[in-house]
Amino acid sequence: MQVYNSVASYRAWRASLSADSTVGVVPTMGALHAGHLSLARAAATANTHVVVTIFLNPAQFAPTEDLASYPKTMDQDLAALEALNASLPPSASGQVTTVFAPTVAEMYPAGIPLVRNEQVGTFIEVVPLSAALEGGTRPHFFRGVATVCTKLFNITRPHNVYFGQKDVQQTVILKRLLRDLHFDITMTVVPTEREADGLAMSSRNVFLSGERRKAAPVLYKALRAAEDVYNGGEGRASVILEAARQVLEREGAGMMKLDYVSLNESELLREVDTVERGKGVILSAAMWVLPTVEGEGTVRLIDNLILE
Ligand code: PAJ
Repeated sequence: MQVYNSVASYRAWRASLSADSTVGVVPTMGALHAGHLSLARAAATANTHVVVTIFLNPAQFAPTEDLASYPKTMDQDLAALEALNASLPPSASGQVTTVFAPTVAEMYPAGIPLVRNEQVGTFIEVVPLSAALEGGTRPHFFRGVATVCTKLFNITRPHNVYFGQKDVQQTVILKRLLRDLHFDITMTVVPTEREADGLAMSSRNVFLSGERRKAAPVLYKALRAAEDVYNGGEGRASVILEAARQVLEREGAGMMKLDYVSLNESELLREVDTVERGKGVILSAAMWVLPTVEGEGTVRLIDNLILE
C-alpha cells in the first residue's frame, strides 16, 4: 500500500500508470468502517487501481462542530485496507494500491479558517441543493464537501468514484457537480452498510455507548415505519412522514431531538407533497442524540431510504 501525503508525489505516481489502467477513487475522512470498505470493495471489482483518499476536511465543519474530536485512526485504516485486499475474490479486477492522505496545507494553501467570511480562495457551491435538508442546520457543509471533492477529483484523476447511499444528499449534489463542471468521471452509489440492529454505520457511532447506542436504531426504525405506510398504498407525504415522527416520539422521547424527516425528489431535492411511484423519492431524516451523562456530546445521525 503506497501512501502519498503530497499532491506532487501522488501526481508522479498517477502519471506513471499505463493508459489502459483504470482508477477508482473512494473519498473518505478516515476512521474507516465496513461502510467505507464496501465502497473500496465495489471499486476493486471495476478498476485496476483503487485509491482511497483520507482527509479530514476542515471546510465542511462549522466552528461549533466536532472537527477536533473526530476520530483519527490512520494505522488501523491502512490495516483495514490491507485486510480488504487480502479478502478480495480472484475475480476482482484490482486492489487498493494507494492511499492519498494530504495535509491541510496541501489542500488549502491559503489556510482554512472555520469561520466562513474569513476564508480565502476558491470554493464550490451547488445551488440550491446545498441549502436543502442537511443544509438547513449546516449551511457551510456542502460548500466544504463540493470544494474538497473538486480538489480531490482534479488531483487524483479518477475514471470512477464511489460514494455511499448513507449520505444521499452528498451523492445528489456531487452528481450534479460532476455534470455541471464537465468532469469525465462516473459515480457509483453503494448501498448503506448497517449494524445488525439497523443503525447505519458511521465514523461518529463511536461516540455512542450504553443507552444512547441502544436507542440509536430508532432513526432507521422510523424510516422503515414510513416506508411501510408508503408500501401499503399511501402517497400523501404528510401521512407517510407522520408515521416516522410517531416512532421517534414514542421511542426516542427525551433522548433524541428530531431535526427533520422529509420526502424530496432526487434531482433538485425539492420537497414533495405526494410520492409518485417509480420516481425514486428520497425519504431522509436527521436527529441529534442528546447527552445522557455529563461529558457526553450531542451526536448527529442521518439516514435515508429510497421509496421506489
Ligand atoms: P465519510 O463520512 O468518511 O464517508 C466517506 C464515504 O463513505 C461517503 O461516500 C459515505 O457516504 C460513505 N459511507 C459512510 N457510511 C456508510 C455506510 N454506512 N454505508 C455505505 N457507505 C457509507 O462523506 C464523507 O466522508 C466526506 O463528506 C467526503 C466525501 C470524504 C468529503 O470530505
